[in-house]
Amino acid sequence: MTGRVLITGAGRGIGLSIARVLARDGFSLALVTKSESSATRLRAERFVVDADAIVVAFDLADDAALADFVTKWREPLWGIVHNAGICATATLADCEHDPWREVLAVNLEAPYRLMRGLLPSLARPGRIVTIGSQLSVEGRAGYGAYCASKFGLIGLTKCWAKELGREGVTVNAVCPGWVDTEMTGNDVARIAAEMGRDAASFKAEIADPLELKRFNTPEEVAELVAFLMSDKSSGITGRAWLMQTIWNQQ
Ligand SMILES: NC(=O)c1ccc[n+]([C@@H]2O[C@H](COP(=O)([O-])OP(=O)(O)OC[C@H]3O[C@@H](n4cnc5c(N)ncnc54)[C@H](OP(=O)(O)O)[C@@H]3O)[C@@H](O)[C@H]2O)c1
Repeated sequence: MTGRVLITGAGRGIGLSIARVLARDGFSLALVTKSESSATRLRAERFVVDADAIVVAFDLADDAALADFVTKWREPLWGIVHNAGICATATLADCEHDPWREVLAVNLEAPYRLMRGLLPSLARPGRIVTIGSQLSVEGRAGYGAYCASKFGLIGLTKCWAKELGREGVTVNAVCPGWVDTEMTGNDVARIAAEMGRDAASFKAEIADPLELKRFNTPEEVAELVAFLMSDKSSGITGRAWLMQTIWNQQ
């Protein structure tokens, strides 16, 4: 079965790869980005034209914009991929920065509000995939807000699986470790700079303890999402699919 899949954060990185792989598999797309520039880029992609994609730009952290989007939404959806996410760090002792509200708003509240608003449009059976992280199951110093949001997303995934299973809707989380994207590049460069290190050699050092000795690619994450979006995964729900381990700093 194919139909339309809504993907948040489809402008780049993992979300863009998910869009490309799902289009390859015959799904129509509804793509959400934050910026108009990402939306314009997506509209220019050939797959978008071929797959008749809907592309919308709005800020998922803006309650009014999100409410407006779900109120106006009319298209049936086979699935939703809650992929959009941001990462901002601050330790408990950091009195200057507190990213709690912005991180929780995008990573946790937005999936919750989107699900409530779009539920009437969701097919039965249907598919929901949330994008967690290795930090959905482990802590890391300075990542309190991000970890809380990603742990919370697994909680929602498991609750929704129980609420919707009777109707044939599966709900699963994909939890990557390090993935080569803009988010990761910024993260690695920032940590390296804080340590006075060169970003490339620091990245190689992070990759060394990983099982595959390298970061995952966005395409590898997208292939797992594609499986969970397909008919083949009809018997799997409420699971968090962990990819590689992460570098476990204090
Ligand atoms: N990269 C990793 O190593 C890694 C590891 C584990 C988990 N993850 C998770 O995977 C997901 C995707 O990560 P990524 O690395 O691909 O991220 P990314 O490259 O930074 O892309 C994020 C996407 O989300 C959109 N977005 C961000 N804030 C938004 C907002 N307030 N409203 C609407 N859209 C918003 C961005 O829109 P614009 O394009 O318009 O800016 C962009 O398209 C996230 O949930 C992240 O936590 C990533």
